[in-house]
Amino acid sequence: MSEEQLLRVLVSLLIIASARYFRFVNSSGEDSIVADVFNETTISRIAFGSCSFPKKPQPLWKHISSQRPDVWVWLGDAVYADTKVVPLLWTPSPLGEMVEKFNYLKFSSEYQEFLRSGIKVLGVWDDHDYGMNNGGKHYKDRLQAQGVYLDFLDEPSESIRRRREGTYVSYSFGSGSRRVKLILLDTRSHLKWGPECDILGAEQWSWLEMQLSDPNPVALSIIGSGIQVISDVPYTDRWTGCPSSYDRLIWLVQRNPRVILISGDVHFGEFSCLNSTSTGYPLYEVTSSGLTATCVSWMSKATCRWLLENVLTSSKRTHPFITELNYGLITIHWNDQPISIAVEVRGETGSYLKQTISLAHLEKARDANRCPQKLEDPPVIKKNLFYAAAICVLTTIFVGLLRLIIFILKIVLTRIVFPLLGISLQSSPSSSSSLQRTKHKNNKIIKSE
Ligand SMILES: *[C@@H]1O[C@H](CO)[C@@H](O)[C@H](O)[C@H]1NC(C)=O
Ligand SMILES: *[C@@H]1O[C@H](CO)[C@@H](O)[C@H](O)[C@H]1NC(C)=O
Repeated sequence: MSEEQLLRVLVSLLIIASARYFRFVNSSGEDSIVADVFNETTISRIAFGSCSFPKKPQPLWKHISSQRPDVWVWLGDAVYADTKVVPLLWTPSPLGEMVEKFNYLKFSSEYQEFLRSGIKVLGVWDDHDYGMNNGGKHYKDRLQAQGVYLDFLDEPSESIRRRREGTYVSYSFGSGSRRVKLILLDTRSHLKWGPECDILGAEQWSWLEMQLSDPNPVALSIIGSGIQVISDVPYTDRWTGCPSSYDRLIWLVQRNPRVILISGDVHFGEFSCLNSTSTGYPLYEVTSSGLTATCVSWMSKATCRWLLENVLTSSKRTHPFITELNYGLITIHWNDQPISIAVEVRGETGSYLKQTISLAHLEKARDANRCPQKLEDPPVIKKNLFYAAAICVLTTIFVGLLRLIIFILKIVLTRIVFPLLGISLQSSPSSSSSLQRTKHKNNKIIKSE
């Protein structure tokens, strides 16, 4: 191969490689922007939600479509594609069963009607639609499950999402000063916990870095993650559970102001805000979880609210959480001066949580701590009493179980195993030797015969 040929091959490889990530919008002649999918329609309403049990009533779809959002974003657990063994214990389902579960929702009359409204449906998965509760990179069917999930979203067959490992994707809507970028992160396909934890995996990290380093300004970037990002509610899969990934994400987000986070997963709705110590601007997170079931579906409302108030607390919570069935809505008021953004958690009876943020408020600035007032911390005594009670109950159960196991073991050994082996427990040394003697005698008898 001549030098020139080699050069030509290298250049075309470079073009192919960059075409994977970059597409240049040239119709208006001005833009070079990084995204997987481009759509020049200006959008002003983004609705999103998570945690939907297909067999439970689906009351929210008509309310969501009545808000006339431009897009609907699934933020995980669109269906529970894995199989419940007992409460809190799930096992992956065979792929065929997964497909059936997705189709059950997809072809339900409520969802079909929603699809007919023409609202564009986008999404990324979390653990249950991934196929494994709290699953990560070791889920053995993850790549095949990806096809099942993308089929559910009617992702075109030539989509880049069918060629990469993971369901992450980015969209650029609108153009010029009204460009909105939607970045959806796959927090399952590459997730690993432990001291070497990582949430996105190397390829997705470099992709995200590119998404957040646009040469052209983006009016607003919305980053979606199934699991919560800045909220630090304990006992959930969350970004703050892997400090190195969390740190890196926040570092990437500070490069690119005007980011709002959206998340799901936790079966309640809340607003969180990270004071701008690290980002240079306040970082808001809207969590909407529970399209068909929130925590009150499994326990009394009072218990659920008590737990969320006193134990499952977050140091970033700025508004009281909500436990009604809910979806999220972001409305961009392009004609306001300055442009403003209303973020909401809504449900059957309207808006439950609402805040209006000026776009200018999301610019980098010196006066760092511009988040709303954080909710007062609950008295620690309640949390401690809860843990003390929980430890007592668990210890009692543990001791009880231990005694039961010892009891059963004793019966099995003395009544079944030892008799089978010919060992007698009550026997004194003399009686045991007499037993042996009889055996010998018996042997002799057999031999002599
Ligand atoms: C562009 O976005 C709008 C608004 O969501 C949607 O109605 C339209 O179908 C999209 N176009 C394409 C080609 O996806
Ligand atoms: C952000 O900082 C301000 C000023 O210190 C404080 O009043 C507010 O409670 C903080 N908000 C959050 C959510 O941390």
